[in-house]
Amino acid sequence: MTSSVRYELVDGIGVITVDNPPVNALSHAVRQGIHDALAAAQQDTSIAVLIVCEGRTFIAGADITEFGKPPKEPHLPDLCNSIEASSKLVVAAVHGTALGGGLEVALACHYRCAVQGARVGFPEVKLGLLPGAGGTQRLPRLIGAGAALDLMTSGNPVDAAQAANLGLIDHIVNGDLGDAALAWCGELAAKDVQRRRTSELAVESVPDGMLDAYRATLARRARGQIAPQKIVDCVEASLTLPFTEGLRIERENFIECLQSPQSAALRHMFFAEREAARVQGLSKDMPLRDVNRVGVIGAGTMGSGIAMNFANAGMQVALLEVSDEALGKGLGIIDRNYQGGVKRGKMSEEQALEYRGRITGTTDYESLSDADLVIEAVFENLELKQEVFGKLDAVCRQGAILATNTSYQNVDRIAAATKRPQDVIGLHFFSPAHIMKLLEVVRAEKTADDVLATCMALAKKIRKTPVVSGVCYGFIGNRMLGHYAREAQLCVIEGATPEQVDAVMEEWGMAMGPLAVFDLAGLDVGFKARQGLPEAERGDPRAFRVADALVEMNRLGQKTGAGFYRYDPDTRKRSSDPVVLTLIEREAAELGVTRGDIDADEIVDRLLFALVNEGMNILDEGIAQRPGDIDVVYVYGYGFPAWRGGPMHYADSVGLAHVLERVREFEQRFGSENWTPAPLLEKLVSNGNTLAEWANSGSE
Ligand code: 3HC
Ligand code: NAI
Repeated sequence: MTSSVRYELVDGIGVITVDNPPVNALSHAVRQGIHDALAAAQQDTSIAVLIVCEGRTFIAGADITEFGKPPKEPHLPDLCNSIEASSKLVVAAVHGTALGGGLEVALACHYRCAVQGARVGFPEVKLGLLPGAGGTQRLPRLIGAGAALDLMTSGNPVDAAQAANLGLIDHIVNGDLGDAALAWCGELAAKDVQRRRTSELAVESVPDGMLDAYRATLARRARGQIAPQKIVDCVEASLTLPFTEGLRIERENFIECLQSPQSAALRHMFFAEREAARVQGLSKDMPLRDVNRVGVIGAGTMGSGIAMNFANAGMQVALLEVSDEALGKGLGIIDRNYQGGVKRGKMSEEQALEYRGRITGTTDYESLSDADLVIEAVFENLELKQEVFGKLDAVCRQGAILATNTSYQNVDRIAAATKRPQDVIGLHFFSPAHIMKLLEVVRAEKTADDVLATCMALAKKIRKTPVVSGVCYGFIGNRMLGHYAREAQLCVIEGATPEQVDAVMEEWGMAMGPLAVFDLAGLDVGFKARQGLPEAERGDPRAFRVADALVEMNRLGQKTGAGFYRYDPDTRKRSSDPVVLTLIEREAAELGVTRGDIDADEIVDRLLFALVNEGMNILDEGIAQRPGDIDVVYVYGYGFPAWRGGPMHYADSVGLAHVLERVREFEQRFGSENWTPAPLLEKLVSNGNTLAEWANSGSE
C-alpha cells in the first residue's frame, strides 16, 4: 500500500498493518496507506477488516511534525469517516497506546479490542489542541458527555480495563494480540454483526448548567488556556447539533487551536523535553554503569524525597544521617509522604509498604560501601560537602557514582575533595523531590561521559525530566531565578505590593507569584545563601532589604506562618499583612526611593526579560546546551506555564527585537549593573535571527 502500511488477507480477513516506527504516528504515508488498503478491502473477498499495528504501540496520534506544514489528502477526519462508512466490518486491535488521532481511528472502527495493559486517551489538550478527527463528536456518543469531557480536558489516558468500563473498548484480549484479534474479528464476521457506527448513536443529554459549571472549573484548573474551553464548545455541539454539523464546529475549533501561540508553545515543549534528554557529543551506545543500590546522605527536606524516588523505581536505598534522632525525623517525613500518596490515590497501601521497605536508615558510612550511586543532600555548605565527599572517597567502591544535590556550590570544588573527580556529578532535584519532575544534571569539568550518560538514563527510570547544566553559581534555574527575584523585589520597593506583583504574574500564567514562592521555599534559604557569598557577589542590596528584614523578624515564610504574607495555620491560605506594607515603606524611605505606581506590563516585562537576558548569557557560556533546555527547566522546575513555552520560547514569540528594546530601556532607567543586554541577544537581533533559528543552525 505504502512503505508504512501493509495489507494482506489472513484467514479471510483483510489485515491492515501500520508499521511506522517509533510510535506509528499518522503521517501522510500512513493515512494514504490505510485509505488504499480500505479501498482494496471493499473490492476483495475479505469477510472483515482488522486494523493492527507493528512495533511497540497502536497509532499514537497525528504526526506532530506535520503540523504547520501544508495539509495533504487524505485528511484524517475524512479517513475516519471512510472507515466508519465501510460496508465491510472494521475492527481495531489496540496494544501499547492508542492516542489522539490513533484513538479517533479506533473510534471510527465498528468494534475495538485491546490487549490487557494497553492505554487509550486524548492527549491533544497537552499540545494546546483538541481531538480534530471526529473525536469530540464520537466520544460523547460512545461514553457520555461527562466522561468524554474528563478524558479530553485532562489529556490523561486510561487503561484497557477502565476503557472497557467506559464503553470505549468492547473486548479485552489476553496473550498475543495478533492471533486473538484475528479470531475475534472472525467470530464477529461469522455472526454478521451490525456495523456499529458511532456517529449514528444518540448523545445522552446532560443536566442543565452542567457545561457552564465545567467551563468555570476549567477556567480555574487550566487558567489562561483556550483548548480546554473549546473542547467544551465541541462537546456542546455534539449534544445539540447533527453529527456532520458537530464535525464542522470541531474542525473550526481545531484549526483555531492549531494556529494559536499556545499550541505552538506546547508543541515546542513536547520536542524540547525529548531533546533535553540528549547530550551533545555523547554516543547513544555509550555503555552505562549499573545502578541498583543507592545511598542518600542527609534525610532532611530533600534527602527524604530523593530516597523515595529510587525506592519507588525498585532500587534499595540506604539513607544516612548524623544521629538516630535526625534519622528518625527523616524516616518520619518519608512515612508521611507515603501515607499522603495513598490518601491521594497515587499508590495502593501495599505499594507504599513495598516502596518504603526498600529504604533503610543508617548512621554508618560503611553501609555505603556497596552503593552504586550516592547522593549527598546535607546542609548547603561547601566545607561540609567537601568533608562528606572525602569520607565517600574513603568508603565507596571504585566506579560508584558520587553525586551532590547542591543548589549553588561549585561541583568542581566538591569533586576535588576526592581522588576520583571523574565519578562526581551534580544531581539537583527540586522540592518536593518525590514530586517535582525536573532534574538538573550538573556536568563538572572532570565528570566522565559514562557517568553523565548513566545519570541521564537513570533520570528516566525514576520518572524525572533531566536537563544538563554546566557548573556556575545556581546552575541554569537558580542562576536565572536570581534575576527574576531581584526584579520582583525591586518592584516592591519602588511601589508595587507583594499582592500586586504575585497577582500580575499569576494572571500572566505563573503557577505561583514570586513572593509567594519565596514564602513557600523559606526566606531563610535565600538569606543563608547570600550570607555565604562575598558581598560583591550578593547582587543588588536594595532588592533584598525587605526579605532580610522579614528574616530578622523571624518571618521565614509558610513554615513560621508569616513572611511576605500571613498564613492560616489550618488551610495555609495566604492573606495580606499590613505590617509588611509598613516595613516596605520604611525600607524604601531609608533607601531614598519614592514609591509610585508600576503597571502590570512593566512588572511582567521586568521579571521575564530579566530571566531571558540571563538565559542568553547562560547559552553564550555553554552552561545550557540549547534554548529548549532552559524552557524545560522553567516549565518543570519553576511553575512557568507550559502554554507560554518557557522563557526562551516566550522571548522568540514576542520578538527578540522587542525584548532588546525593553532591556535597553530598563538599562537607561535602572542602570547597567542590573540591565546589561546580553551579547547573544544583541547579536541575534542584529542578524535578524530567532533563538530557534540560532539553535537549529548549530548555535554559531
Ligand atoms: N508525532 C510525531 N512524533 C512523535 C509523536 C507524534 N504524535 N509521538 C511521539 N513522537 C516521537 C517523539 O518525538 C520521539 O522522537 P525522538 O526519538 O526523535 O525524540 C519518539 O517518537 C518516541 O517518543 P517518546 O520518547 O515520547 O517515547 P515513549 O515511549 O516515552 O512515549 C508516547 C510514547 C506515549 C506515544 C509519547 O511519545 C506520546 O505521548 N506522544 C504524543 C502523543 C500525542 O500527543 N498524540 C496526539 C497527537 S495530536 C492529534 O492526534 C491530533 C488529532 O486529534 C487530529
Ligand atoms: P535540610 O536542612 O532539610 O536537611 C539537611 C540534612 O542533612 C539534615 O537532616 C542534617 O541533619 C543532615 N546532615 C547535615 N550534615 C550531615 C552529615 N555530615 N552527614 C549526614 N547528614 C548530615 O536541607 P535541605 O533543604 O534538604 O537541603 C539539602 C541540600 O539540598 C542543600 O545542599 C540544598 O541547597 C539542596 N537543595 C535544597 C532544596 C530545597 O528546596 N530545600 C532544593 C534543591 C536543593
